[in-house]
Amino acid sequence: NWSMESFIEDTVAELRQQIGDKRVLCALSGGVDSSVVAALIHRAIGDQLTCVFVDHGLLRKGEAEGVMRNLADHFHMNVILVDAKDRFLGKLKGVMDPEQKRKIIGNEFIRVFEEETEKLGKHHYLAQGTLYTDVVESGTETAQTIKSHHNVGGLPEDMQMDLVEPVNTLFKDEVRKVGEELGLPREIVWRQPFPGPGLGIRVIGEVTEDKLEIVRESDAILRDEIKNHGLDQEVWQYFTTLPDFRSVGVMGDARTYAYTVGIRAVTSIDGMTADWARIPHEVLERISNRIINEVDGVNRVVYDITSKPPSTIEWE
Ligand code: XMP
Repeated sequence: NWSMESFIEDTVAELRQQIGDKRVLCALSGGVDSSVVAALIHRAIGDQLTCVFVDHGLLRKGEAEGVMRNLADHFHMNVILVDAKDRFLGKLKGVMDPEQKRKIIGNEFIRVFEEETEKLGKHHYLAQGTLYTDVVESGTETAQTIKSHHNVGGLPEDMQMDLVEPVNTLFKDEVRKVGEELGLPREIVWRQPFPGPGLGIRVIGEVTEDKLEIVRESDAILRDEIKNHGLDQEVWQYFTTLPDFRSVGVMGDARTYAYTVGIRAVTSIDGMTADWARIPHEVLERISNRIINEVDGVNRVVYDITSKPPSTIEWE
């Protein structure tokens, strides 16, 4: 594909020019966007690049281990894992508002990167996988903010590092094409999107360890069943959310008063618009049964049947 090849060539040349002999710290999430960014920069400047993967305690089940394994297998780059669970959860304590949560998480990311920079000596640039979609939805002077995507609108104003965002003119489907062209493995190129603020915006309202556990476990069941039924290619993104309320149920002879888990599954091209996925009822039934039986503290499962617009994909 001519245009993707020239995108890669031009971008690598521009990066070399922009970065010169400075050093770059790349925020790696394990997803396609930041992996493509890392691969492009590595191609441009090699060992001047260090990648950092932050475990903010808002990751999915098995994610930190999986991402580090994947990176070790496929990338020959310097990658550092930072365990920052306590500080993120500490900062989020008592915070209910979605935008405030996003800002706190975005800020804390930058603080972690600044600290890593200091530890490593001089890194002049921070690279991240901001997409065109993130830029648009985080708002410009003319457009209204829909959500502060954390790699854009959530950045602190006194940030000490300059940004390198080589894919911020691309949509998701284009980044995937570039990823394929760069020879990234399938499981990275086709990994479903996962937002920077992670499960922090899937636990509605205050984020606590108990609630994160419910989302983590229910999400793992959902992913498992989607994969088992061969739906992971046609459904663009799928995850569970935890609304901030409980309702009444009955288990055996006893009344329960427990949480509701929401299932969100959408088809989309670029995340700008989306349609709710028509998952077969039998599959939904199985997912629901498994969540109720295997996840403590849940007595109800609902399926989100709204499209974007008027909804958004994430609930916060
Ligand atoms: P919404 O909820 O805005 O989501 O319809 C559109 C797509 O963007 C993802 N998303 C994010 N990605 N940082 C990211 O990198 C963020 O802060 C963020 N918020 C939402 C979302 O998962 C969906 O794929």
